[in-house]
Amino acid sequence: MRLTLIGFGTVGQSLIKILAIKKNELIKKFGLNPKVVAIVDSKGAAIDEKGIDPFKAIKVKQLKNSISWIEGIGHFGMSAIDVIKNVETDIVIEMTPTNISNGEPGLSHIKTAIFNKRHVITTNKGPLALALPSLMELASYNKVKLRFSGTVGGGTPILNFAKKCLLGDKIISIKGILNGTTNYILTKMHKEELSMEEALKEAQKLGYAEADPSYDIEGIDSACKLVIIANWIMNKRISIKDVKIEGIKKVTLKDVNEAKKRGNAIKLIGELNEEAFVKPMEIPTVNPLCVNGSLNAVSFNTENSGEITIVGKGAGGKETASAIIRDLIDIKFNLLKLYGG
Ligand SMILES: NC(=O)c1ccc[n+]([C@@H]2O[C@H](COP(=O)([O-])OP(=O)(O)OC[C@H]3O[C@@H](n4cnc5c(N)ncnc54)[C@H](OP(=O)(O)O)[C@@H]3O)[C@@H](O)[C@H]2O)c1
Repeated sequence: MRLTLIGFGTVGQSLIKILAIKKNELIKKFGLNPKVVAIVDSKGAAIDEKGIDPFKAIKVKQLKNSISWIEGIGHFGMSAIDVIKNVETDIVIEMTPTNISNGEPGLSHIKTAIFNKRHVITTNKGPLALALPSLMELASYNKVKLRFSGTVGGGTPILNFAKKCLLGDKIISIKGILNGTTNYILTKMHKEELSMEEALKEAQKLGYAEADPSYDIEGIDSACKLVIIANWIMNKRISIKDVKIEGIKKVTLKDVNEAKKRGNAIKLIGELNEEAFVKPMEIPTVNPLCVNGSLNAVSFNTENSGEITIVGKGAGGKETASAIIRDLIDIKFNLLKLYGG
């Protein structure tokens, strides 16, 4: 199985490392023998149909800041679109930064890959939050698979759990803590009585929050994930403009302390029932959904099995790479018609 990696940052480098380390296990257990034939970053590409040496690729990227410096196979200035169109590959893995304004460059990468009959795996929420219904249709029309496990919950298999493990039951509603940064901040306010500003600074110092944390604080990151959950799990064809969004900006330490006196905690909740919304809500601290720190949690309210909650880390290079490997195996099994979907 030939792979093209678009984006070679935290997730891309973790992926290529894990694929190399687990090579024998993947072949033995799943018959999966992926070969990375192209890697692209913002400055250029490296292409080798015989397969790119993963450790050399990481070394060159870390020393020289672009994959295009690899001797013999590097192409400075070559764009992702050129590579997607011209390099023979089976799966394009899109891992460029999230852009919620217009989805680019990821949206064009995904569309070009699908038009060129490549299966696509992405960890980039931006294109999906803006255009998931049409991308799913496009993929189906072109008879290719589009997978995106890593966009919700990092390595925690939230999408797969609902889609596969709850088969045969009906999911009535979904409620979750979908953003690790805001959960970390609200936890610090609840447990240590820090102000929002103090908690945010600490989150930034520990690398949980970006220098510009607005996507997280304003609830946009959670809303993107809710859109993906709605489309993939509930078959609701919505995009981010259909989600009512309120972030945590207005939550004060006084609000948090008052909730605490009632045995509750304030959490940024994304919820899907007849409506889709993200807003800060009080939930009992004994509720399984009430997880702390940077954890994510999602509760599925089902017709026959009651409420089921899945908890795990919401991000991380290694964790997200593991979600990509799950998608690779899923695509392989689908192509072999080992199960429907
Ligand atoms: N990190 C996580 O824990 C995590 C978890 C879940 C989802 N995600 C999502 O996964 C994606 C990748 O995350 P990351 O942490 O790996 O990001 P990152 O470290 O910032 O890496 C992004 C990569 O994309 C490349 N890039 C930017 N513009 C490009 C273009 N036009 N063409 C080709 N490559 C381009 C960058 O090139 P340069 O190296 O040249 O700058 C870089 O290699 C993001 O959408 C993120 O939201 C990340």
